[in-house]
This record gives sequence, structure tokens and C-alpha cells, in this order.
Amino acid sequence: MDRIPFIIGNWKMYKDASAAVELCDQLRTTIRVVGDREVGVAPSFAVISLVHQHLGRSRIRVGAQNLHPEPEGAFTGEVSAEILVSVGCTFVIIGHSERRQYFHESDQFLGSKLRAALRANLDPVFCVGETLQERESGSTEAVIRQQLDGALGSLTPSQLSRIVVAYEPVWAIGTGKTATPETAQQVHRFIREYICERCGMQSADRLRILYGGSVKPDNVDALMTQPDIDGALVGGASLKAQDFARIVNYQV
Ligand code: PGA
Repeated sequence: MDRIPFIIGNWKMYKDASAAVELCDQLRTTIRVVGDREVGVAPSFAVISLVHQHLGRSRIRVGAQNLHPEPEGAFTGEVSAEILVSVGCTFVIIGHSERRQYFHESDQFLGSKLRAALRANLDPVFCVGETLQERESGSTEAVIRQQLDGALGSLTPSQLSRIVVAYEPVWAIGTGKTATPETAQQVHRFIREYICERCGMQSADRLRILYGGSVKPDNVDALMTQPDIDGALVGGASLKAQDFARIVNYQV
């Protein structure tokens, strides 16, 4: 099964309005999205509309970094899937380790966010990953299994087939320490096997699993040669158009 690679830039809490416009202008001229790969950026909520406008017809997808599970209501400071769709989002990152760590988001809560995204037709990019301590104690697979069980448990196979999973080892995020291609591949394989057990070969074969954690222009090619790595979720290196363009144009 040929899976279309998906490269996403997670801008986190960087890029104010003028910097976001500047980056969009640069991305439009440096990145040409053709049919063999998908590209997306996830700016902060406040500039999503602006980014959507400025990316124009570039075919670069716009997504969000988070959402609230309810469609609307008295939830001060929150943003729903429906509102995200109304400003041009087509995907949303769910369960990033920074959300889990700093905002104490539980697997169950993340499950409700996943269902909310699917309800609104947003593609969820669901993040999983172990800490350094968990890796060193040999519990990487147990941790990932628990994260998948907790959030994906209530989804039907057809819902599952619409999600993207991002494996992001916490120890590799923003640290400059990338997982080796082989280490990442092992976990990606494990995730695909998990989906196969739950939903069968066809869903597992279709599932895109992105790698995230210090992806840079100089390591993306090797990561993308692995059979179960179907793209990248890029933080720091997505803030510079040239670096992000090089990542999008990875060569295997
Ligand atoms: P990084 O971030 O590329 O800066 O390590 C990745 C992420 O947090 O998604």
C-alpha cells in the first residue's frame, strides 16, 4: 500500500501576525506541493485565519495544535473543531507531549478530542511517545500501548482509518537528539501492528505514522527511508522556510 507522506510544521507558540505572514510568503515561494506528498502547518490559534489567507493556493494545509471536544459552549479560552474548520483548518494535532505534560491532558480526554475532530471532519494527528526514563526502563512499548488504548479504544475501525499517528519520543523533542532511523522504525512498526490487531491489515496498511523529535534537514532523508515512517512532525526546523522546504523535499 502506498501511503502519501505527510510533513507538518508545528509552529507551537512562535510567530506573531507579521512573522507568520512573512513565513507564509517564504513558504509559498520555496515549497511546491505536488501530488506525491502532503504538507501542512499548524500555527497558533490567533493567526490561523491569517495564515490560511496568506498560503492562498499553495496547497499547504492549515491545521491547529489543539481543540476542545465540545462543538460550542461556555468554555472560556477554548476553540472547537467546528470553529477550526470555519477558519480553514483541515487537520488538528491532538495529544502533543507538551499538552500532556503542561496541561495534564489524560488519554481519555484526548479520546474525546479525537472524536470531536472526526465529527467535524478534521483529520486528527494523534501524538504518542515515551519519556527518557520510560525508554531507559524498557517500557517504551507498554507506554505507547497505553496511550493508544486510552485514546483510540472507543473508536470504530472506520474512524480509526481517518487518523494519523505521530510518534514523538519526548526525549527527542526540542533537544536536538533525534531517534535513530532504526529506533524510530521499531516503534512505528509496533504502532502499525497494534492497529492491525485492533482493526485488521487494511486499516494498518493505510495508517500514516509520522515521526517527530528534532527532525532537521540533515536527518530527514535517513528517517524517511524507513518503511513505516510516513512523514514528519517538525517543530523548531519548521520555523525557517528554507529548512522546512528541505525537509519537505526529502530524498530517499
Ligand atoms: P522539534 O519539535 O522538531 O523542535 O523537536 C517536534 C514537535 O514537538 O512536534
